[in-house]
Amino acid sequence: MTGVSTKEELCLAEKIPDPCAIVIFGASGDLAKRKLLPSLLQLQAAGALPAQYRVIGAGRTPLTDAEYREAMRAALPPGADAAQAENLLGRLSYLGGDLAAPDFYRELKEKLGALSRDYDLKGRLFYLSTPPQAYPGIIEQLALAGLSRPDGEGAAWVRAVIEKPFGTDLAGARALNALVHKYFSEKQVYRIDHYLGKETVQNILMFRFANTLFEPAWNRNNIDHVQITSAETLGVEHRAGYYDKAGVLRDMFQNHLLQLLAMIAMEPPTRFEADAVRDKKVDVFKAVKPFGERELRENFVRAQYAAGAIDGEPAAAYRDEPGVPADSSTPTFAALKLEIDNWRWQGVPFYIRSGKRLGARLTEIAVHFKNVPVSIFKPLPAEQLCANVLRFRIQPEEAITIRFEAKKPGPKLCISTVNMEFNYRESFGAPPPESYGRLFLDAMAGDQTIFARADGVEESWNILEPMLARAAADGNGLAFYPAGGWGPAESAALMTRDGREWDTV
Ligand code: BG6
Repeated sequence: MTGVSTKEELCLAEKIPDPCAIVIFGASGDLAKRKLLPSLLQLQAAGALPAQYRVIGAGRTPLTDAEYREAMRAALPPGADAAQAENLLGRLSYLGGDLAAPDFYRELKEKLGALSRDYDLKGRLFYLSTPPQAYPGIIEQLALAGLSRPDGEGAAWVRAVIEKPFGTDLAGARALNALVHKYFSEKQVYRIDHYLGKETVQNILMFRFANTLFEPAWNRNNIDHVQITSAETLGVEHRAGYYDKAGVLRDMFQNHLLQLLAMIAMEPPTRFEADAVRDKKVDVFKAVKPFGERELRENFVRAQYAAGAIDGEPAAAYRDEPGVPADSSTPTFAALKLEIDNWRWQGVPFYIRSGKRLGARLTEIAVHFKNVPVSIFKPLPAEQLCANVLRFRIQPEEAITIRFEAKKPGPKLCISTVNMEFNYRESFGAPPPESYGRLFLDAMAGDQTIFARADGVEESWNILEPMLARAAADGNGLAFYPAGGWGPAESAALMTRDGREWDTV
């Protein structure tokens, strides 16, 4: 199944951002180079940006405008259109200094004022992509300099985009929200989860709520269980300083995986609008059955990679990676069995796992339907007929597949399991665009739908509190798995105990 209907595509109202200034804090960092500048280039080449916009890189390193442009030139993709790249680079300038010092913000304010006058800019987007320890200082100083509120001089709107991690636990997230709300209204705040910018993740809502076929079956009467897997072959790489404190629960579960859970499990929102959608996601988080002692023991697995092999190449143990303490008990893998205490999902388990150094790169949600109630194909019993599975493959090869039973051609009556597939690249003739482009565009256009709201972030931390406390308190509960495998035996046992198994092992 590859074709796209010839009917004209239906588009929601186009979002055209106002002319604006973008200030990137952490301007020479990894994220700015790998994602932010390349996505701006992609948006500009697609004609999605306003004719006038300016980017100020803000960072500690002293650099001239020309030096900053050269550093960013090197970060743009090698095959980029030269004229587009020059156009983007020409819009960049740089301001170096102490990001916690008032002087820096006085200068920033002057610079922004001048740009607004020169280019008739209407808005200001402050993008915080520094290490999170710097967020409070930046937020406070922006406010003290009078930069957090719209003013009559070139800032009809002011928005703050804040990268993950948003806090490191519930108390931290609450404190950061409180600080942010002291100076910015929630409508000005855009908390990033880059998974929400992925086309295939956004498509979950279109799939569920722009079709009639699936939603009537989307409940405990028809669905047996749901599996969510986010597997990486990469290890901790050069990020031990951050990762060893975070671990997989903070790095992947609090944000990406719980967001996927919310999109699959949420009730239909009344409209496709930021708060209507986010209300329903928060409802899912609130309905997740809390983890007590028994759930922690039975439904929570955490593990760390030991030495092994990835694609036939030897891979070091996590504890032997550069910068990782030799006795680290940070989990690089976790698996959870969650239940959602509401009418739709009562009794339907959600199995969720994520880890580094696993057997393949794969992010997928698999909705497993129930077996047929009775088999008319005697002597085959109902349990021998494969149940339907609807799979959202988010990466690497973006697709949606439906597994079903079909008659195998031939004189004998045989049943085979087959797959019907919708593949993004084949249907739309191109790979889905980079997620940061969508996020940038929506923040510039003032659409918060795919950004996390304050209460959503707090509720997701709340779900993880017991697991985080257990992981911090009890190093003995940590299992180990060889790099290149699919996690520890305990993860498989989470499933086999219920008479099920992970789809990919
Ligand atoms: C980031 C995590 O948020 O997501 C990384 O900090 C992880 O550890 C990454 O590798 C995965 O993102 P993606 O888009 O490659 O699946």
